[in-house]
This record gives sequence, structure tokens and C-alpha cells, in this order.
Amino acid sequence: MFPFYVCIFAVMNQPFKHIQGEVAWKAPSNIALVKYWGKYGVQLPRNASVSFTLSSACTETSVRYTAKEAPDGNISLSFLFEGAEKPAFAAKIRQFLESIVPQFPFLPYFELEISSSNTFPHSTGIASSASSMAALALCLTDIENTVMGGLRPSEFLEKASTIARLGSGSACRSVYPYLAVWGKHATVSMSSNEHAVPAFEAVHPVFKTFQDAILIVSSDEKSVSSRAGHALMEGNPFAESRYQQATDNLTALLAAMQAGDLEKFGEIVELEALTLHALMMCSTPSYMLMLPNTLKIINLIRNYRTEKGVPLYFTLDAGPNVHLLYPEADKATVEQFIETELRPYCENGKILMDAVGAGPLKIK
Ligand code: DP6
Repeated sequence: MFPFYVCIFAVMNQPFKHIQGEVAWKAPSNIALVKYWGKYGVQLPRNASVSFTLSSACTETSVRYTAKEAPDGNISLSFLFEGAEKPAFAAKIRQFLESIVPQFPFLPYFELEISSSNTFPHSTGIASSASSMAALALCLTDIENTVMGGLRPSEFLEKASTIARLGSGSACRSVYPYLAVWGKHATVSMSSNEHAVPAFEAVHPVFKTFQDAILIVSSDEKSVSSRAGHALMEGNPFAESRYQQATDNLTALLAAMQAGDLEKFGEIVELEALTLHALMMCSTPSYMLMLPNTLKIINLIRNYRTEKGVPLYFTLDAGPNVHLLYPEADKATVEQFIETELRPYCENGKILMDAVGAGPLKIK
């Protein structure tokens, strides 16, 4: 399971004798503007993507670590989700921890007690993998820094982003505030396929307080997992032109965001969302992830925008729920429209109000 030298070293030594502690981080979810859809190798993206880091939809994770008296080379884990044991989640976390021993060789030397909870309600269809993997990666990187030392502040987030990526690709963007780019891209300095980079610096301030109202059309489990969806891109006849389109869209989107060009921003973001769904529709097998109410909401948004001239745009994840993106200055008008025109198309009227946020927070 682990390299031979790790196991031998583990049974013979305990370099971390009597070390124990606890760390806790809160990390937000993110919503992609240019989508990551297609991967290769060990969680490497076929194209660069960019996302808003959110504010309200978060995961809080704490990790207690206690040095084992007699290390046996195995991961020792107890895991609680929202206070309860969840064997299926625990098995995934264990598998993830085993997979990152090469990056964190200290892990088999400790008993780990992980406890995690989300700040958003269950059954909303909101994927929590980005926030949960980001929170866990931040905790583990923090522990590494304590027990091993040596990470400079700039390296800390980079390492946490790399580890988050290994858990779930999109999670690597959640460690940075406001806006993050993941994937090598000619116009983004220091960009990398291995980890995300912060991308807010040159962007117009209107985007720093952008709102995201998440309209829950259905809270049912996704009909296709992200993992399976990414894999379908390998046989998709439009794959190569899609990766080029995403690269071009990222260039154009960042330019629009720097100029504060809301119209161009909205045009690209909506095109990205519909392209993601079109790619799923023309994969083999094919998936239709939008529901009738998704289309009703999209049409209502487009009509409202034409009639009122309000900069209200939508994006979609790989599912039927609609993210409404709009400037803070238009909050009152847009929210009135949401209330009267859009809420009826949401499952049990469910909407999560969120906004662009300042990134993860260390809580312990
Ligand atoms: C549609 O990051 O969930 O949300 O790397 O397999 O965990 P894995 O996939 P994941 O894919 C996210 C896809 C997306 C677009 C995006 O967030 O960029």
C-alpha cells in the first residue's frame, strides 16, 4: 500500500513522539465561470478554469492529531460528519489520505480524528466536494507546517491547493479569495495545472461583491458523477475544440473582468454554462442534466434582462440548479424579481443566497 521504506521506517521509529494538537479551517465552495470539464493523469485539467470563491456555502473541518506510540505504517482515522459516523464518507477520506502519503509522509505516524460539517443545508443538490476537500487540505497542510515546518506563507496556500486538487479538481480553486484560476494559461502569470492561483488583483472591484443566488430546481442526487462526466470527455468528438474554446474564453473573460465589462462577462459565463451541458448531451452515453424548470428560469432571466437592462446572468454546475450572478448594486431589484418570478420554479421554493467571498478562514 505504502512504499516499503515508509512502512519500515514507521514500525521502527516515532519521530513525532508525544506531539499532538488540533487545527480547524472553514473553506467555501466556488462557482466556475469558465468550466473545468475533462481531465487527465493525476487530476490534471484539460483546460484552465476560473471561479468565484463563494462566501456562505462552506465546510468547517477540524483535525485532531495524536502521535501513535507504535506507528504501524497505516492511516488511523475516525471521521464524523455533522456529529455522526458516516462510513461511506469515512471510506472515501481514508482512501484520499492513503493516496497523499507521498506528499504528507507524516500522516501514518498519527491518529487522526476528523470532524466536518457544512454551513449549507442537506439535500440542496449543492456539491460539497470543493469546500470539503479545500477545508481538509488546509487542515493537513497546517499540520504538516506545524510538525515538519518549512513552508513559506506563499507556499502554504499553494500546497493546500495542490492537495485539495488531488481530492477534487475544482476544490483547488477554493483556497483563494474572490477569484482563482486553475490550469496553465498564457495570460495568467504563475498559473499551473498542479494548483490554482489567486486572480483577483487586476479585476474590476464590481466583481469583488458580486452576488450569487443559487436556485434549487432539484435536490436529487446527480445522475452522473463529476468523475464519470470528466471521463466522458475522452470520447467526445468536440473535446479538442472545447479545450481551445475554454482557453480563449478565459482570455476574454479576464479581459472583460479587468475592464468591468458586465455585458461581455455575462455573455461568456452563460455560453460556458450551456457549453458544459451541451457537452454532456453529445457524450456517449448522453446526459440531459437540465430540467424543464431550469429552462424556464433561463428564459425568464433573459427576458428580464432585455426588458429591464439589469445585468443579471446565469451559470450552471453539472446539474439542474441555476446560479444567478449580479452586482451588489442591483441586489434589491434582482431579489424582488427572484421572489416574484423565479422562486415558484424552485423545489419547495428553495434558494440559497450567496456572494463572492474572502476565502478560507482558520478557526482553530
Ligand atoms: C462542472 O471538481 O467535481 O463543477 O475533479 O472529479 O472531483 P473531480 O471533479 P469536480 O468537477 C467540477 C466540474 C464543474 C466545473 C468546475 O467547477 O470547473
